[in-house]
Amino acid sequence: MLDKKRPHLVALTGAGMSAESGLQTFRDADGLWEGYNVYDVATPEAWQKNPQLVQEFYNARRKAVLEANPNQGHILLRELEHDFDVDIITQNIDNLHERAGSNKVLHLHGEITFARSSVDPDLLYKIDGWELKMGQKCKLGSQLRPHVVWFGESVPMIEPAARLSSDADIYVVIGTSLQVYPAAGLLNYVPKDVPVFLIDPKPISITRKGVVHIQEKAAEGVRILKEQLKTFL
Ligand code: APR
Repeated sequence: MLDKKRPHLVALTGAGMSAESGLQTFRDADGLWEGYNVYDVATPEAWQKNPQLVQEFYNARRKAVLEANPNQGHILLRELEHDFDVDIITQNIDNLHERAGSNKVLHLHGEITFARSSVDPDLLYKIDGWELKMGQKCKLGSQLRPHVVWFGESVPMIEPAARLSSDADIYVVIGTSLQVYPAAGLLNYVPKDVPVFLIDPKPISITRKGVVHIQEKAAEGVRILKEQLKTFL
């Protein structure tokens, strides 16, 4: 008997995906950008001006990630792999999708558990523990920086992410305010006849017609999504 091809489900996730794991989002009322100025901690200029402050900011993020656990939303998304060919495109720098067992995760904005050379972006090092210190260098002798994409930097993974988006049979957007480009533009690559689901407790402005908004937090939202997806099997 021939195997039935599993529908290709692509999920674009943002900070709201990890909110129920206790990680702060960026633009909510108690979000990270309420407490920090983006230009002080998340730009190449900030790194030039005050690398110590940048390291401290990301060390705190890394510590929080290592202390957090995947939530039910991450787990249910992994469970969808049973019936769907799931690709996750995440803007998150945490590793909670991987720790929930998801097999295909593309990180658009880098990964906090890795350091990279500040002269060669391909030189990556897994960080042991939560702290990356000034003085820790790559094999070329340059200071290691967090492996994250800062504002003003290019997003090298956007092309594979766009290809995945254009190949989706079902598209799901979870926990992102869709205010940061180029990630927010990925929806434009999703073919017009592909059903799009949005999981977010707040209203999100999307120009595309016919988007099904499940207005819930990620854990409950993915549970409802799972039910609704039964019609695609
Ligand atoms: N479940 C689902 N969604 C939630 C939850 C939750 N429990 N809590 C909050 N949200 C939603 C918010 O309503 C909001 O729409 O998650 C979204 C978070 O939006 P942002 O804070 O803007 O995060 P994100 O869209 O991921 O930011 C994009 O901005 O600063 C940069 O590089 C950073 O990757 C990040 C990018």
